Amino acid sequence: MAVPSARLALLLCLMIPATVASSRSLRKSPANASRPTTFFEVDRPLRRSSGRCSTLLLSASFGSTFNKPPATNAYSPPRCLVKAGGRASAISLAVLEWRAACRGAQLDRVFGVWLGGAELLRGSTAAPPPNGIIWSVSKDVTKYASLLAAAGKPTFTVYLGNLVNTTLTGVYHANVTLHLYLRRTPPTKPPPATAPADLVVPVSRALPLDGGLWFPIQSAADVASKSVALPSNAYRAVLELYVSFHQDDELWYKNQPGYQNGPFREVTARVDGVLAGSVCPFPVIYPGGIYPLLWRPIAPIGSFNLPTYDIELTPFLGKLLDGKAHELAFAVTNAVGVWYVGANLHLWLDPGGTATTAGLVSYVAPAAKTTSSKSADPVDTHYHATANRLVSATGWVKSSYGNITTNSTRTFALVYLLTFETLDLTIVADTGVVATDGAGGVMYSAQTHGNFPLGWVYQQNSLTVTHGLEETTVAAGRWSSAPPYRSLRTTQSSLVEDEEGGGKSWGVRQTYRYNATDGCYFRNVTSSNYSVVSDHSNELCVKGAASVGVGAVTAALPTVNLP
Ligand SMILES: *[C@@H]1O[C@H](CO)[C@@H](O)[C@H](O)[C@H]1NC(C)=O
Ligand SMILES: *[C@@H]1O[C@H](CO)[C@@H](O)[C@H](O)[C@H]1NC(C)=O
Ligand SMILES: *[C@@H]1O[C@H](CO)[C@@H](O)[C@H](O)[C@H]1NC(C)=O
Ligand SMILES: *[C@@H]1O[C@H](CO)[C@@H](O)[C@H](O)[C@H]1NC(C)=O
Ligand SMILES: *[C@@H]1O[C@H](CO)[C@@H](O)[C@H](O)[C@H]1NC(C)=O
Ligand SMILES: *[C@@H]1O[C@H](CO)[C@@H](O)[C@H](O)[C@H]1NC(C)=O
Ligand SMILES: *[C@@H]1O[C@H](CO)[C@@H](O)[C@H](O)[C@H]1NC(C)=O
Ligand SMILES: *[C@@H]1O[C@H](CO)[C@@H](O)[C@H](O)[C@H]1NC(C)=O
Repeated sequence: MAVPSARLALLLCLMIPATVASSRSLRKSPANASRPTTFFEVDRPLRRSSGRCSTLLLSASFGSTFNKPPATNAYSPPRCLVKAGGRASAISLAVLEWRAACRGAQLDRVFGVWLGGAELLRGSTAAPPPNGIIWSVSKDVTKYASLLAAAGKPTFTVYLGNLVNTTLTGVYHANVTLHLYLRRTPPTKPPPATAPADLVVPVSRALPLDGGLWFPIQSAADVASKSVALPSNAYRAVLELYVSFHQDDELWYKNQPGYQNGPFREVTARVDGVLAGSVCPFPVIYPGGIYPLLWRPIAPIGSFNLPTYDIELTPFLGKLLDGKAHELAFAVTNAVGVWYVGANLHLWLDPGGTATTAGLVSYVAPAAKTTSSKSADPVDTHYHATANRLVSATGWVKSSYGNITTNSTRTFALVYLLTFETLDLTIVADTGVVATDGAGGVMYSAQTHGNFPLGWVYQQNSLTVTHGLEETTVAAGRWSSAPPYRSLRTTQSSLVEDEEGGGKSWGVRQTYRYNATDGCYFRNVTSSNYSVVSDHSNELCVKGAASVGVGAVTAALPTVNLP
């Protein structure tokens, strides 16, 4: 079959790990060499109208840092928080800001930020062209309030493994700042289900060490584990997972069945050997991934601030409240290359007692169901694959709040279709938690529906990648002060035109709609080559705006003017 050379180059590029693809694009520097470009990931602003205090936690440079000790600093709660009484409950909103710059060619690198061993942020750097870039990312870290208020000088840690040589000359310079917004009125503790946990226990590797505090998982047989002992008066437990995939698994979601273990991965978490949760992650594309020009200057969804996944462990408290150490273990089904997995155990403690009791009522976790097939056509083979999983557990916990039964259910379904010119992947993930008292009254319920579509089309020397994240949460119950409704729908459509002469044009369009009981945010931004050519945003809650579906956006590709 005759394949034009540019097309071949592009398809080859798709088949090799993205870090290699990035170095290929580094030879050409399309932008002006004297001005840094600002890269950004589209996200909603995080702020309150007043009362901000900001503290620089760490300023560091990352040159040749691979497998070296991370950058560290001793952490003390910011002075404004101490002046306000020092309690975690005084924090109304905490935002961690990562601001970084790089000049010189460099690849995209993963970094992690930890406080007292608990991971606060994991992200990818941008994949900088040689003229230099700057970018920043802000993350809501209010859920770690108990750590932010903790005395005892916990270590604040940043690891960013980088390699500098005569080709890759870029050194990353980063400042990490904590912005706190404090409550003006004397803090009253919000209801249990939505207040930050009383205790956040890190499930990570301990300092001192070389590299990141995450556990590297190299293969499907690899298991990482850590023993933790819980306080005897915990009444709620949530395991928050951080995951990222690299090297041979950076693009796991594109693997055809039979190639590098196919397109299905799940991260599993076990408590004393019992599967407590399984997560099929959002397929984050790193800024150097698939084809690096696709993500300049608008970074891929979730790449600067990787999503995390909460597994409700409350139904399993029955075996964890004996004061002894218990094993939390992680693995990645079908893993080929390296996965970095880490976790934080969020615990809520009974203010009215020193011991809670608990028991498991029911547990269902059948093996994941997977299928794969291949069409007979030898010229344009179609590869199909599916995977489905259900894990559900119910348990009671008796505390001073009463005897409360919690049902936690997670499901996901993955559907994959690859042809010579297209990829079409959808992951649908649902989680539900329902906590009821003895009389059947709902203390807390939260249902989250997630839909992660990813596709590409290669046609006439142009590659279009469409990537979306839709997540809706509906919460209710006496323990819930959270917005009862929260919905995010964002879609990114990126196009690169690879011409025979080697000239390249590209463009990105992203729409972002956040609609929640506590506010709304809309943004529609389009870039062409390195320039933003249209950018509209507002914070209006317009009735019915959420009904404009992702489909309409998908059809509107960015306009790239070809010579
Ligand atoms: C880069 O931009 C500067 C200022 O905008 C300009 O003076 C210079 O000529 C440009 N260089 C190139 C190579 O385009
Ligand atoms: C970090 O902070 C220092 C001191 O304020 C400043 O000079 C530097 O430009 C900052 N770096 C970045 C990447 O923001
Ligand atoms: C620099 O490192 C990269 C990545 O390991 C490698 O591909 C490249 O060949 C190195 N360049 C030199 C000049 O050693
Ligand atoms: C709590 O309720 C569950 C289910 O109703 C019951 O099986 C359990 O014995 C109760 N626990 C206590 C301590 O009363
Ligand atoms: C837990 O919730 C799931 C999903 O709603 C439901 O299918 C299951 O029957 C519940 N389990 C128990 C023991 O109530
Ligand atoms: C984008 O850059 C290419 C050169 O790489 C150029 O040919 C093309 O005209 C540019 N497109 C736009 C819309 O500026
Ligand atoms: C986004 O902006 C583009 C360019 O201004 C426009 O054509 C498109 O209709 C807008 N999309 C939405 C959903 O507002
Ligand atoms: C937000 O979602 C609710 C529930 O679906 C809907 O009634 C409302 O119109 C939406 N608002 C916006 C601004 O989209």
